[in-house]
Amino acid sequence: MIQPQHMPVKFKHPGSYQKMCHLVASNIKDLVKGKGGKEYHNRPVIGLATGTTPLGVYEELKKMKNTNFSDTYTINVDEYIGLEPEFNARLKGKEGYGFPQHPKSYYHYMTEHLFRDINFKRSFFPGESQTDTFDSLIAAMGGIDIQILGIGTNGHIGFNEPGTSRDSLTHVVDLTESTIKDNSRFFDTINDVPKRAITMGIESIMRAKRIYLLAQGKHKKDIFDKAFKGEITPDVPASYLQEHSDCTVMYCD
Ligand code: F6R
Repeated sequence: MIQPQHMPVKFKHPGSYQKMCHLVASNIKDLVKGKGGKEYHNRPVIGLATGTTPLGVYEELKKMKNTNFSDTYTINVDEYIGLEPEFNARLKGKEGYGFPQHPKSYYHYMTEHLFRDINFKRSFFPGESQTDTFDSLIAAMGGIDIQILGIGTNGHIGFNEPGTSRDSLTHVVDLTESTIKDNSRFFDTINDVPKRAITMGIESIMRAKRIYLLAQGKHKKDIFDKAFKGEITPDVPASYLQEHSDCTVMYCD
């Protein structure tokens, strides 16, 4: 018999957004409680995403008062480029100049939604100067144990837009029109949305030991089906996850 090259993605049907988020958060809790390594390369490492979808997971994690996250590292999958200098330029001469967090940065978003309440050991974000080092940094930590992902309406994961190659590592991207439009809801006007970002690549994401991809809302149904019930294609970057050995995908209305 021909052995399959990989395990198929696992579909879970949690029934509600709240249950979906609870399931992912419980798995993170089990990881954190079970791993408990104190050495640098043996601490729990969680890969995080921004956007609306994972917010429920972060709410669930915040409820886990008996879980000690102080030895856990987090790594965010992507970050905008170009916000900081603009922000600093506007503030120049005013109090707050040099403040490292632009209010629209993903770093700030994560602080508001998670880091303010949970005291992780350390949290990492890719930066423009780190394209060559970010993947080695992750490897030095022993790799990502659990990676959380959303999916863009164009099939992107992280900011790996359609056309991204399977072997891509952390890299700078020009955001597509559709991503800029989708993300404009977080900005005053569409012109304020950064045009560039840095993202872990497909290969960087595929190296995670376990992946949970979450999708919510009818506007995600078509792309979810294309990604996980259709062929593996660079046109739908999330479809590469079909080749991962431990990837669970979940959709709810
Ligand atoms: C953001 C990220 C993106 C989002 C995707 C879905 O860090 O990695 O790939 O996961 O754009 O965004 P939401 O959840 O807002 O629909």
